[in-house]
Amino acid sequence: MERDYWLKSELDQLNQAGLRRSLRTVMTAPTGRIVLDGREVILLGSNNYLGLSTHPKVIEAAIHAVKAYGTGASGSRLITGNCQLYTELETRIADVKGAEAALVFSSGYLANIGTIAVLAGEGDVIFSDALNHASIIDGCRLSKGTTQVYRHGDVTHLESLLAQSSKFRRRLIVTDGVFGMDGDIAPLPDICELAEEYGAMVMVDDAHSFGVLGKSGGGTVEHFGLEGRVMIQMGTLSKAIGGLGGYVAGSRVLVDFLMNRARGFIFTTGLPPATLAGNSAAIDVMKSTPQLRERLLSNARQLKNALLSQGFRLLPSETQILPLILGSAEWASRFAEVLLEHGIYAPAVRPPTVPEGTSRLRISVMASHTSADLEAAAAGFIAAR
Ligand SMILES: Cc1ncc(COP(=O)(O)O)c(C=O)c1O
Repeated sequence: MERDYWLKSELDQLNQAGLRRSLRTVMTAPTGRIVLDGREVILLGSNNYLGLSTHPKVIEAAIHAVKAYGTGASGSRLITGNCQLYTELETRIADVKGAEAALVFSSGYLANIGTIAVLAGEGDVIFSDALNHASIIDGCRLSKGTTQVYRHGDVTHLESLLAQSSKFRRRLIVTDGVFGMDGDIAPLPDICELAEEYGAMVMVDDAHSFGVLGKSGGGTVEHFGLEGRVMIQMGTLSKAIGGLGGYVAGSRVLVDFLMNRARGFIFTTGLPPATLAGNSAAIDVMKSTPQLRERLLSNARQLKNALLSQGFRLLPSETQILPLILGSAEWASRFAEVLLEHGIYAPAVRPPTVPEGTSRLRISVMASHTSADLEAAAAGFIAAR
């Protein structure tokens, strides 16, 4: 008997529970309409929120970099992979974030696991929101500290945990800025107040808010006017910036510490030059074009209002992420399939990405959707139900 027979039986179990995952093939750039597995559909599942991955200035910068530096980094940043384009990118990130310095990792996932694991060690405690992203959860698992999970967005619960934390050496509170599967914004001002009262470090993950919230797209700290009160501003360049790479922005000493200690920084290859240059150009466009942010959020309002007026149960989100809660994993998968038949791609999100019984369609809009795209999308939802 083959030694991998048990893999098939586990996959069969996932299938029966409606939890099996499979890949679809996208045959065009991630704009409002894409060709998916050979068919044109309206895309409602992309994180290319501002449409920057196809912006002419971004593409031009990437082409220029690939011609000048080639396709790959050739090593980890501490050995041979620290292309000079990193300095330009990190300077831009620190500037938008109002921070002294920034450090770019090869992905947001690596930034989270690398940073959390070394900021909380033995004898320390991490307070983590119940709906934080998997990369934060994995960072907590890699840390030698204790993790305590507080109820989603519940600062009263957080305070009760902080009040009992005197036996720990250091405290770290970590939260998504905008929750990726729910679209709501973390209560960061209250979190900062508690952190100051109890002497805790605060880390915010701006994956879904960088480029989207705040006057210059800086994210949740800028949105709430909390400059100087959040020690670790983490984020990713793979969503609104349209490229790839994670970052941590903060003090110079934080950046030096992470460069020396974070294994997710040290033991992986640097980003390709074209990605670095594309990220920098995209940040420039993002900063100088606030209309993209306005357009994104007005597009979200258009689709949200159209769906709510038809009785669809959306979670109350103020952002570009509009979750339609369906309950069981089977129902979410089936509804996503029917929608696809009507030319709409809104991915089903199921456990373990979201809690049991809250499977959903994670609808996300982009600045590049036209009003007609969104009207057609709403009509598709109505026809599919
Ligand atoms: C909240 C959050 N943090 C971190 C990440 C990881 O970022 P990346 O995709 O750049 O690895 C994601 C991406 O899915 C995310 O949603």
